Amino acid sequence: MAIRDVLRMGHPLLLQRAIPVEAFDSPELHALISDMRDTMAALNGAGLAAPQIAVSKRVIIFGLEHNPRYPEVEPIPETILINPVIEVLDEQMEDGWEGCLSIPGMRGLVPRYHAIRYHGFNAQGDYIEREVDGFHARVVQHENDHLDGILYPQRIVDIRDFGFEEELAGKVDSDEY
Ligand code: NI
Repeated sequence: MAIRDVLRMGHPLLLQRAIPVEAFDSPELHALISDMRDTMAALNGAGLAAPQIAVSKRVIIFGLEHNPRYPEVEPIPETILINPVIEVLDEQMEDGWEGCLSIPGMRGLVPRYHAIRYHGFNAQGDYIEREVDGFHARVVQHENDHLDGILYPQRIVDIRDFGFEEELAGKVDSDEY
């Protein structure tokens, strides 16, 4: 369909709470998802939330093919998740570097829950539920935050762990999402 502009940090829509989807399998929803998929692919992102393309609805997309740059990171199947809900399975948090398509070129060290269960719906309205950990759990928490108007710098514990990817070279191994 179309590659859309991604809003950058500072745009007020990124700070808004997005509204739940009520009508599934609609032309509007399929068009939104198609644009999100095209935009994420064009920018080589690992995930994208609808508010990042200025649609304030609770829709996220994420996925990661095997990348020889990060051989230790397990692939994530491409997933459309609508009206997501996250349950924490383990209070243990772990630090990891994150990047965001709305904050291009920057990386920050963010604590996230190691293991979560998430559920929600696909575009047709079918129920999806998974238990995941590691990077998969991180990406879903990051995207879900976008739906609540939260960007990852708000979660950085020590703001010194925030900077330009080029300056952090060697320390950081993260995509933007
Ligand atoms: Ni992001």
